[in-house]
Amino acid sequence: MEKKKEIVLSGIRPTGFLHLGNYYGALRNWARMQDEYECYFFIADWHSLTTHSDTKDLKKNTLRLVSELVAGGLDPEKCVIYVQSDIPEIAELYLYLNMLAYRGELEKTVTFKDKARQQPQNINAGLLTYPVLQAADILIHRALKVPVGKDQEQHVEMTRNFAERFNHRYGKVFPIPTAFSYGGELIKILNLEGTGKMSKSENEMNTIYLNDNDDLIAKKIMKAKTDQGPAAENSTKPEYIQGLFTLLGLVSSAETVASFEDDFNHCRIRYGDLKKQLAQDMVSFIRPLREKAHALQHSPDIIREILEEGAVKARKSAAATLAIAREAMGLNGG
Ligand code: TRP
Repeated sequence: MEKKKEIVLSGIRPTGFLHLGNYYGALRNWARMQDEYECYFFIADWHSLTTHSDTKDLKKNTLRLVSELVAGGLDPEKCVIYVQSDIPEIAELYLYLNMLAYRGELEKTVTFKDKARQQPQNINAGLLTYPVLQAADILIHRALKVPVGKDQEQHVEMTRNFAERFNHRYGKVFPIPTAFSYGGELIKILNLEGTGKMSKSENEMNTIYLNDNDDLIAKKIMKAKTDQGPAAENSTKPEYIQGLFTLLGLVSSAETVASFEDDFNHCRIRYGDLKKQLAQDMVSFIRPLREKAHALQHSPDIIREILEEGAVKARKSAAATLAIAREAMGLNGG
């Protein structure tokens, strides 16, 4: 009999446009896992409510995000793509896990402290129990591997604790998941000023989005921070220059990269030329992605169908887990 594939799960909040950091940090890795694992990828719309209570654009953002995920390589034939709020079983598991999560540990969570500082007027209970909901997302499919970036590792660690407490109290229901980075390599995509990672909340001119048009991509790259070039041969690159070389490495040919490296090492680099080349290769990389995403956005029926099918599959897996959990807990009907 064929060995059962390990279960992989990850999610993303529908709170902004996808950028290159999301692509190389998450999406590309997710797409690579589809053949090897049983994969669940979902839109964490409940999570977005902890910070974005205005839901006016939620549907539109979800549609766009799913279009971008599919354009970027997720194949609904190979993985399950769904929206969190379509799976009520997650909310039930969240309730059970809430009894196993302690106030002290929730208050100490780094993301909670950050968010509480950013929105002191809205430190709601959902924000405090954000990691419990995330644990429910992961445990509801009994996932083993959770591909996430560094900033999410604490949440996965907390998920492990909640799962262990549940198992200890009620019997072994949940396998213990681990945070996972595909192939071990996590490429850090810097913003175009070289001052930190590209991120959704960054200055928009410093971040390249999968939705940016050709001119805007070129404009952003041509404005990226550079300097007069190295003063001595084989110097170490400043962060903002290294950031441009990293991007070049992702979208340009090996020869192109080698030739600019050589120019840098021999102090004859012209950053204007590098940026022109990078802009051209970045446009060639993003254009087909953007066009595919736009085409999908204009066929909302296709996306709706993907999400409906995804919800059916996700609910089946979720209901199976809940039945086992209820039974272990000795609930009525379990
Ligand atoms: N908290 C994650 C983020 O902000 C999104 C998320 C929600 C998630 N549930 C998850 C990621 C479960 C992995 C697994 O990026």
